[in-house]
Amino acid sequence: MALILALESSCDDSAAALVTSDRQILAQAVVGQNEAHRPFGGVVPEIAARAHVEILPGLVRQVLADADVVVSDIDAIAATAGPGLIGGVMVGLMAGKGLSLATGKPLVAVNHLEGHALSPRLVDADLDFPYLLLLASGGHCQLLEVRGIGEYRRLATTIDDAAGEAFDKAAKLLGLGYPGGPAIEALAAEGDAKAVPLPRPLLGSKEPHFSFAGLKAAVQRVVASGDHRPEDIAASFQQAVVDCFVDRTRRALEVSDAPSLVVAGGVAANRSVRTALEALAAEHGRAFAVPPGWLCTDNAAMIGWAGAERFALGLTDGLETPARARWPL
Ligand code: KG4
Ligand code: ZN
Repeated sequence: MALILALESSCDDSAAALVTSDRQILAQAVVGQNEAHRPFGGVVPEIAARAHVEILPGLVRQVLADADVVVSDIDAIAATAGPGLIGGVMVGLMAGKGLSLATGKPLVAVNHLEGHALSPRLVDADLDFPYLLLLASGGHCQLLEVRGIGEYRRLATTIDDAAGEAFDKAAKLLGLGYPGGPAIEALAAEGDAKAVPLPRPLLGSKEPHFSFAGLKAAVQRVVASGDHRPEDIAASFQQAVVDCFVDRTRRALEVSDAPSLVVAGGVAANRSVRTALEALAAEHGRAFAVPPGWLCTDNAAMIGWAGAERFALGLTDGLETPARARWPL
């Protein structure tokens, strides 16, 4: 059994965790920076990077203390090396390198997207490769066939905005603040999803790609018109995203014979998204898996798990490993 200390700092959540290769999360801590970014209606990269510098060392101490673990017990240090806001990624990766150097334990540089992609396996020992993954976060919206560690076949991506980005922009237009996803979901519960006609970009198109820019522009027009209640706009917007997810994922299920459908990334925390994709999987005779909400949004447990999977295969990284703003799977 290997014990992994993990760090995550690619966006606006500072996180540390201690995860074992037999799926135990011994301790984990996430500190969001919502208050720091809220006045700006989105994440300010420079503020995020500085906050990670201030927050991460305390989190490492905290998880070690919570799990009653000393650094000599650790087998490897996993740190997100990208993609993300480069300042923040550098802070977490450099912290991981420093810990690796000081302890003599190997470094595992983890792709944040691989963290999301493998996260369902942390809580589901029966989820085997291959699986079809809808990865929907603040920065990405992709359909991937996950065939193994480091083996990802990308079937589709977004041609403009990510789904989470669309949630955040719609929330900003409705004056709901940041982050938008949970706020839209809460307001949508009070509204009528059929009240506001909104477009479903690329619905029915052959390639299973996504597009959300036109939906965002439509929300902007609807809000400006003042003709609809905010709760109806939120519900109709959420339904439009769900309809796009279902249609595009259905298309991918037609070209992939992976036995399971999995949803991960921050937007997978959304209950309407989870319910609709579970029904889609059932319709196609596929198994369905989605991590619990706390494992969908950014955290270090998923980085620790991806680190554990890589470490088990002997995939460690040197101290020269670069931080990467862009790093496709
Ligand atoms: O995976 P994540 O925490 O960070 C990135 O890697 O981007 O995803 C964050 C995104 C944000 O855009 C946020 O608004 C969205 O996930 N999100 C949600 C919900 N919770 C978080 N979107 C819809 N419904 C939610 N409940
Ligand atoms: Zn993420």
